[in-house]
Amino acid sequence: MKKDLLTISDMTADEIGQLFELTEKLKRERGNQAYKPLSGKSIGLIFAKSSTRTRVSFEVGVSELGGTPLYLDQGKMQVGRGETVADTAKVLSRFLHGIVIRTFSHKDVEELAANASIPVINALTDEFHPCQILADMFTMKEYCGKVEGLKLVFFGDGRSNIANSLVNAAKKIPFELVVTAPEEFRPEEDFIKGYSNISWDPDPLRASKDADFLYTDVWVSMGFEKESEERLKIFQPYQVNDAAVNAAKKSVKFLHCLPAHRDQEVAASVMDSPISIVFDEAENRLHVQKALLSMLFDK
Ligand code: CP
Ligand code: NVA
Repeated sequence: MKKDLLTISDMTADEIGQLFELTEKLKRERGNQAYKPLSGKSIGLIFAKSSTRTRVSFEVGVSELGGTPLYLDQGKMQVGRGETVADTAKVLSRFLHGIVIRTFSHKDVEELAANASIPVINALTDEFHPCQILADMFTMKEYCGKVEGLKLVFFGDGRSNIANSLVNAAKKIPFELVVTAPEEFRPEEDFIKGYSNISWDPDPLRASKDADFLYTDVWVSMGFEKESEERLKIFQPYQVNDAAVNAAKKSVKFLHCLPAHRDQEVAASVMDSPISIVFDEAENRLHVQKALLSMLFDK
């Protein structure tokens, strides 16, 4: 049966472990031109939203694995003129071997996957960004040897695609996740209920105590631009700044999925400091996604 990656909940902890093992190997052996599990396969990359990292890392990753990436601007596809998602899935399944999709509605991605006979990877929806968070966990493992037992504090919009996927990750791997956010943007209680390693704290300095990683994301996600004014105000106390860094462990590292806005969600003094590992994190998107593609499409 074909396998999709729509959220991190689609993977078991064992599969995440295997993914990271393969990622390590592919990263180490990037120059090895012989490994071509996607040879003869075409992977469609549908994008309805902007992207730098995700698009480029998937295009390069598919090519390095021997496949052909096809960039498809969703706005130029017939789905934008009323063709159904289900019909689109059935047609693309006749041409392609896999689909990577970045769009607005997570339900559309579920519908696409339900109607496609080929694997579908979620490259970001309004609700989830699993590829990013897999790369983030791999980065944590690279720096600390393991993810289990580490403390990560997420600052800002606790209902964003990044926060939701971090919660899903913490449900699979026992690290401590504290989301520090205003009450209106805290993770839904039902979503984190029953997981003692996941919590919400409205006080960013208290939350940062003993943290191994401080993580933030933009205050205005793609598709939420209409709420910009309100969001830029309400998240102001949740900037990752020197005070937060000083409250954390001495060895703390800073993560950001990027793109970043200096002096909004992160102080420039943190973003551009030695504790910032955001470019290693960005690079790992490529290695993790190559491992994921190998696992899903090498059949
Ligand atoms: N982090 C991330 O997904 O970046 P892009 O929007 O540039 O793809
Ligand atoms: N939450 C951000 C992530 C960007 C990679 C957004 O959806 O715009």
